[in-house]
Amino acid sequence: MNTTAKEPVWIPVSTVSEFPEDGGVCAKVYGEQIAIFHFSSRNEWYACENKCPHTGDMVLARGMIGDSQGEPKVACPMHKKSFSLRTGACISGEEYTVKTYPVHIEDGTVYIGIEDPGTQG
Ligand code: FES
Repeated sequence: MNTTAKEPVWIPVSTVSEFPEDGGVCAKVYGEQIAIFHFSSRNEWYACENKCPHTGDMVLARGMIGDSQGEPKVACPMHKKSFSLRTGACISGEEYTVKTYPVHIEDGTVYIGIEDPGTQG
């Protein structure tokens, strides 16, 4: 039995030109809302689940992105809890975590790396 981590499936979700500068867009992949961020001032891309674990509201794509001592973060627009865009950990001192996803850009298309639900388990 193969117990190594599965390779993600790369799903095209949008084009680079549809993203605001230093802002996010929400896309639905395999039924999950994913917040994707173009951190254009750092020339970086990140993705995490759109659901804020504080209340379960689907809001993180509308959050402010920024930097906390070099760590890229998104601040929820509701109550400003901040999450690392690298690890998904809450960096405002609480136990919450958001799931993160790899992002890949090719020929102006934005791809999210996600496990095919048919192969999860
Ligand atoms: S809903 Fe996100 S911090 Fe409260």
